Amino acid sequence: MPAAGTPAPVPMPSVSDMGPTLHPGARLPGSILALLLTLAAGAARADCATFEIVGDGIPLPLSQQTADADAGRQAAADRQRGDCSICHQLPLPNARFHGNVGPDLSAIGARLTPPQIRLRVAANRHLNPESVMPDYGISRDRHQVAEAFAGQPILTAREIEDIVAWLASLDGSEP
Ligand code: HEC
Repeated sequence: MPAAGTPAPVPMPSVSDMGPTLHPGARLPGSILALLLTLAAGAARADCATFEIVGDGIPLPLSQQTADADAGRQAAADRQRGDCSICHQLPLPNARFHGNVGPDLSAIGARLTPPQIRLRVAANRHLNPESVMPDYGISRDRHQVAEAFAGQPILTAREIEDIVAWLASLDGSEP
């Protein structure tokens, strides 16, 4: 593992890996550019992004969209997406059960910064290669996935940002 402070680029599928590539400085009318970006995003299903780890965090958001903490709560609870409460205590009253495999997250926003939370959700195995927690933002080593999902991260960049926004808001005061 690189020493703290060393930027460690993590390979992730980027939009340009999956669709038409635009060279920097290429000049295209905005409408064509928008169409190409839409096609690229469609091919990838998700708004995949590359990210850079600095120290024990990912300083920059993975998605340009404004993060939505309510959507993050839903993505974290969703069995098809985050399903975080299978391992973590979280303020999700309707979750089936709350696991104790991972640490209690009900006041995680008071303990970790958003960049630290982002790294733990997107690429926790960077910190602990042995962890049972999946790397939600990285598509590598996903075994036994349906072909349609092969090569895709479990969560989209936007879903990760929504979850980061929700977790960052948790200070233990939610029921
Ligand atoms: C299979 C069990 C499992 C699942 C599912 C899981 N985690 Fe974890 N998580 C862990 C474990 C275990 C740790 C403790 C650190 C480690 O093992 O690296 C952890 C650590 C964390 C931490 C750091 C906590 C701290 O106190 O430092 C955060 C934040 C976190 N998980 C968020 C999530 C989110 C958000 C989800 C759902 C998207 C999720 N986890 C799903 C097992 C899980």
